[in-house]
Amino acid sequence: MSKLIIANWKMNPPTLREASILFDAIKQTALKTRNVQTVIAPPLIFLQTLAANTKAKRVQFAAQNIHFEASGAQVGETSAGQAKDAGARYVLVGHSARRENGETDLETGKKVIAALGAKLTPVLFVGEGERDQDGLFLRTIRKQVIIALKDVPQSRIKDLVLCYEPVWAISTSGSDKQITVNEIHQMVLFVHKVLTDKFGERAARKVWILYGGSVSSDNADDIFAIPGVAGAAVGGASLDAKQFGEILQIANKT
Ligand code: PGA
Repeated sequence: MSKLIIANWKMNPPTLREASILFDAIKQTALKTRNVQTVIAPPLIFLQTLAANTKAKRVQFAAQNIHFEASGAQVGETSAGQAKDAGARYVLVGHSARRENGETDLETGKKVIAALGAKLTPVLFVGEGERDQDGLFLRTIRKQVIIALKDVPQSRIKDLVLCYEPVWAISTSGSDKQITVNEIHQMVLFVHKVLTDKFGERAARKVWILYGGSVSSDNADDIFAIPGVAGAAVGGASLDAKQFGEILQIANKT
């Protein structure tokens, strides 16, 4: 099985020139890693230029966010259709940074529907803010998945990707707040179970489940070896072409 690796650049780098340099460096490795689908999620304002100069199937683009409406007076927003027209094939929905800005599960769900309608692949992010001893955080994950996918018909579930990204594990490389391989494995199984309960085993099996949260060239080997992990969303480490290239190579081998 091949892997899907998403570079989530967030609001970086500062200029189109720097984005182009970073992208060209990443592309060199991405074109050679045949078992990996590389997806770059740059700031939307850079996406069109980068995408216009890239025809390789092995490197695709994602918008970091969309609005769920198709058009209208939503100042400063971008529709799914506009993101697609700019060159995106994927869109991140429900990232914790958006949820922290007030995005609700219901809005995330509307974005999933808008993305599917525009033939974009939604990458649905779910993840708990923190863990409690009683495992109540599992309810949070279940709720995030169920509400975001409540209007998705069983036949379309294969067209989306899920990313388990615990908020407490984001950008914590080098600190003692590291998630363990076991914890990731349990959560991938749990997300799969939630999908199975709602859509049935056959449909659920088709959904790729990624892990996100401080993925680096140091832990990629262990993470990609976890059964059921189909790839990763990489934030900080994707801004370093050398390190991100190493992650792509590790994904290519596992
Ligand atoms: P990180 O970010 O890899 O820097 O932890 C991941 C993300 O927020 O998608």
